[in-house]
Amino acid sequence: MTHLFPNYKRQSIEFVGGEKQHLFDREGNAYLDLTSGIGVMNLGYHHPVLNTALQTQAEQIWHTPNLYENSLQEEVGKLLADGEDYLSYFCNSGAEANEAAIKLARKATGKKKIITFLQSFHGRTFGALSATGQKSIHEGYYPLLPEFVYLPYNSIADLKEALDEETAAVMLELIQGEGGIIPAEKEWIAEVSQLCREKGILLIIDEVQTGIGRTGSLYAFQQWGIQPDIFTLAKGLGNGFPVGAMVGKSTLASAFGSGSHGSTFGGNKLGMSVAKEVLQWTRSPEFLSEVTEKGKKAIEYLSSRLIDTENVRAVRGKGLMIGIELASPECLEKAIANLLDEKIVVLKAGNNVLRLLPPLTITQEELAFGIEKICQVLEELENE
Ligand SMILES: Cc1ncc(COP(=O)(O)O)c(C=O)c1O
Repeated sequence: MTHLFPNYKRQSIEFVGGEKQHLFDREGNAYLDLTSGIGVMNLGYHHPVLNTALQTQAEQIWHTPNLYENSLQEEVGKLLADGEDYLSYFCNSGAEANEAAIKLARKATGKKKIITFLQSFHGRTFGALSATGQKSIHEGYYPLLPEFVYLPYNSIADLKEALDEETAAVMLELIQGEGGIIPAEKEWIAEVSQLCREKGILLIIDEVQTGIGRTGSLYAFQQWGIQPDIFTLAKGLGNGFPVGAMVGKSTLASAFGSGSHGSTFGGNKLGMSVAKEVLQWTRSPEFLSEVTEKGKKAIEYLSSRLIDTENVRAVRGKGLMIGIELASPECLEKAIANLLDEKIVVLKAGNNVLRLLPPLTITQEELAFGIEKICQVLEELENE
């Protein structure tokens, strides 16, 4: 008998402990975590610096409302701006960050239309859901917010046709995460950015999954060579403490004046104390170049090792955001189950992509071990 809604498909396993890149179930079995709790635990479990930050803050004060100054928010905002002219608004999740971005874009431009892309995922609240370009996620919730248009990803012709006088913003992920680890082409992004600039349309980059070091830079947009007007963050920002942020150019400040938007818990002191430490670590160039290096090796190894494996269609990704596209959803389900039997935890993305989002702190050896097991499981499936 359960007291929970059945909206999640749960495995019959409960993780009750974690240490760095490992999870422990109730029986004390250790699992190598290649998921980071869906891109959240970027610095792993039980991180001593984060634990101390949270405990120290908990001894001082947990929460003050946004009616008063909050120097921790100021410090985190400064770190998020990363030397550029950006301001932050804090909330509690990726969907909330995207809600804020959608509201700011409409208010700042006075326009309604928002262009997003097929296979995208931006969250489950009504605005974020309406921005999400997946029919299966919309089902049962109509009518959605009006004036969202979904275009094919990586197609410049479709975008040129859709941009008009009524367009407030273009919103996209640089690697579609939930959609199947699908990267945006660099040339396409350069054109998207230029077109937006020419036409006075805001460019919103959803960095909820790609941000906070996941792809080998603090933000993925730094590798795609663009400067969005607005970007959104959550997941890794609090390393498990719920924190979201909408970051936008300071020129947009007047559209988000006093009373225009808000959240009771947004920028909560406990969350900010953790986010501040997370950012100190994940901004470090040495840390980021290790992420790049580990990801590059992993993708190269997987690509060459699995090249002749029938069930494998493609390997792609950047940094430690990696997808292995398999031949079918059935094949993916089997691979995930077999890997769990081997005490390796992985994720799915789209219908048939095995997704890896390991903690960024994973060692080269641990990653190599996990990847070897994945290759073995995929090769064994071939022989079934
Ligand atoms: C790119 C992207 N945007 C937004 C979200 C929604 O974040 P949350 O679940 O914190 O609302 C997700 C979650 O997977 C995501 O991957």
